[in-house]
Amino acid sequence: MRLVVTGAAGFIGSAFVRATLSRGEGVEILALDSLTYAGNLENLAPVANSPGFELERLDIRDREGLSRSFERFRPDVVVHCAAESHVDRSILSPADSVATNVLGTAVLLDVARDHHPRLFLHVSTDEVYGSIDAPGVASESALLSPTSPYSASKAGSDHLVLAYGRTFSLPVIVSRATNNYGPYQFPEKLIPLVVSNALCDLPLPVYGDGLQVRDWLHVDDHCRAIDALIARGQPGSIYNVGGDSPLSNIELVRSVLRICGKPESLIQHVPDRPGHDRRYAISSERIRRETGWAPSVDFDEGLRSTVEWYRRNPGWVERVRSGDYLRYYERNYAARGASLSR
Ligand code: NAD
Ligand code: DAU
Repeated sequence: MRLVVTGAAGFIGSAFVRATLSRGEGVEILALDSLTYAGNLENLAPVANSPGFELERLDIRDREGLSRSFERFRPDVVVHCAAESHVDRSILSPADSVATNVLGTAVLLDVARDHHPRLFLHVSTDEVYGSIDAPGVASESALLSPTSPYSASKAGSDHLVLAYGRTFSLPVIVSRATNNYGPYQFPEKLIPLVVSNALCDLPLPVYGDGLQVRDWLHVDDHCRAIDALIARGQPGSIYNVGGDSPLSNIELVRSVLRICGKPESLIQHVPDRPGHDRRYAISSERIRRETGWAPSVDFDEGLRSTVEWYRRNPGWVERVRSGDYLRYYERNYAARGASLSR
């Protein structure tokens, strides 16, 4: 099988590439990434010399570049992970989310349809359903109610992907996963942020009362879900992918502190994220029934091994925390009137 993976140097894309190539099943991968602040070649270092792996620095809005790459590589399957993926950044710079998530996806779809892949798998998010009151759960047919520039841009891209399926008979699947966690995640997202801060005795910023609920999915389980959808998903369909591990942010932060052996006095409540969704909750019944996939990583175990990875890779954290990161960090937390120095 010949796979194009976009956003391959990011957190989920690189986990998928590493997992696929380490199985050594004769899969060939063309990894595409424009290497924004979130794209990191170190994430692909473990497989950089694998047979069947090639990497190209390319922006998904570059139609000519994409056309040349698709013409040469002729993928069977496209796994589309490239995105501006962080909600807080989308609040600071909404147009960047639209540019990559909506426009970039449109260009990629256009090029893909000229090359007739067997499948175009769009990696999307449960955030498109918006906040769900307990005890409700969103199924794939729920109305979309995105609330942040990020989730609105992802909802826009989902609609475009489904429209290309319908209008141009491009075989598409949209997968909507819950919050991922695991190694190599950029420390702007909650788990890697609080883990890396806790390990350095820095404050852990908790937005508002911290009672917002997220459903945590280990990135390895997400990658297995992508495999299952490539093998057994129904083209033209949407599949929710949940972790079955709902938790409030404050409980999660306390667990991280326990694992790191650090005091709760590191917790610092800061003003809430504007438009903050209170609770995400989805039903993953469809992917379970149709493909047999189910999450397999126990959350406590997954969190412990994730903390361990960050403990053992201070150099990785140090390097991604230089440059743009510090400027973003200051802007994001200054925007909510918070000081994070101790
Ligand atoms: P990430 O921010 O870690 O990585 C995104 C990658 O896309 C980076 O390598 C970046 O360089 C690349 N990229 C950005 N703009 C690009 C462009 N214009 N052209 C080419 N490459 C570009 O994101 P992630 O957490 O790995 O998320 C991957 C996908 O999964 C996204 O579509 C996101 O919406 C979705 N998703 C993420 C989560 C999560 O919890 N992280 C959960 C559900 C769905
Ligand atoms: O639900 C899937 C989505 O999960 C993905 O589509 C997104 O790409 C991914 O970024 C993630 O979005 P969230 O906004 O849920 O993730 P984040 O890690 O930014 O925040 C998780 C929760 O923690 C959220 O309720 C906000 C809160 N939070 C976050 C940060 C960064 C804090 O309390 N403090 C923080 O400093």
